[in-house]
Amino acid sequence: MSAPPPLRIRGLSVGYPSDHGAIQAVREVDLDVAAGEFLGIVGESGSGKTQLLLAILRLSAPHARLAGSIRYREQELLQLNVRALNQVRGNRISMVFQDPMTALNPYLRIGRQITEVLRVHRNVSGREAERRGIEMLESVHIPEGPRRMRQYPHELSGGMRQRVMIAMALIAEPEILLADEPSTALDVTVQAQILSLFQELRARTGTAIVLVTHDLGVIAEVADRVAVMYAGRIMEQAPIHELFAHPRHPYTEALQQSIPRIDAPRPTHLASIGGAPPNAAALPAGCAFAPRCIYRMPICESIDPPLIEAAPGHWKACHHQGPLGKLRSEAA
Ligand SMILES: Nc1ncnc2c1ncn2[C@@H]1O[C@H](COP(=O)(O)OP(=O)(O)OP(=O)(O)O)[C@@H](O)[C@H]1O
Ligand SMILES: [Mg+2]
Repeated sequence: MSAPPPLRIRGLSVGYPSDHGAIQAVREVDLDVAAGEFLGIVGESGSGKTQLLLAILRLSAPHARLAGSIRYREQELLQLNVRALNQVRGNRISMVFQDPMTALNPYLRIGRQITEVLRVHRNVSGREAERRGIEMLESVHIPEGPRRMRQYPHELSGGMRQRVMIAMALIAEPEILLADEPSTALDVTVQAQILSLFQELRARTGTAIVLVTHDLGVIAEVADRVAVMYAGRIMEQAPIHELFAHPRHPYTEALQQSIPRIDAPRPTHLASIGGAPPNAAALPAGCAFAPRCIYRMPICESIDPPLIEAAPGHWKACHHQGPLGKLRSEAA
């Protein structure tokens, strides 16, 4: 029998009260992260990807309402006190944030920020921490490490700040790395370098990686498994090859058709299915994707389909039973 997954999320919801009704940022998410796996999470802007990652480390905004369960090994993260949480954050589970400026302290030197986790959680000397910090900067392709270590965040370019944050997240070799669009602000070459750095870290230390992106093409290159989010829910979840060969959710099919291919003109099917993601404060009664779905049936407008295991390891939340392929035949 395989080992239980270190991270088990069940029925996780993240809501924000507002004057226009509760904003449902994450809805009833069930998700496991297995030891050493590379899991991709994909979905359009506003689908709840960042809110899901932030909830895992209990970094949601103060007025957020969290429900459900997030178990990390024997600990229920939703119940931990701050002291116990700080033993997990940055040390066992670390995060690369979507916006580097919110994660870096403008008043502290880069070196101090990169090495903090080593000084707090690992019993390493100042000199050893400095050495590892410089090594880490090198591995994210920031040269002149000793000089950079003495600089402040504003003295670095945006792309460099992003890489500093990645160095910070990797230095303690965490068991799980949560990476929120770690490469969108970077140029394509550096992007590829960052992704191979993640893969290298995983091969060397067995760190599991959860990579959030809106780009299914990126996920296809690196992930073992992928979860597709829409309007705060997981719509489909499957091993990567399975998802590409046999998508079972119309939204996944639409996302797939929107991946640019070198041998074909860029399709506009995501646009051509029409509409936009729903407002998280006013979700439709049934399936949130129904208003845009070309396979829509009457039941879709009243009953939100549960996430069920349609084939081993392949989960989908959709009432449609038969094969997909309408988009492909339209494209032909
Ligand atoms: N502090 C907050 N208060 C109220 N609503 C919020 C808050 N933070 C996020 N939301 C809402 O939660 C929903 C999910 O947002 P989230 O940032 O997780 O999306 P995302 O998938 O990461 O999008 P993107 O690809 O643009 O980063 C959105 O409707 C957003 O407006
Ligand atoms: Mg986000």
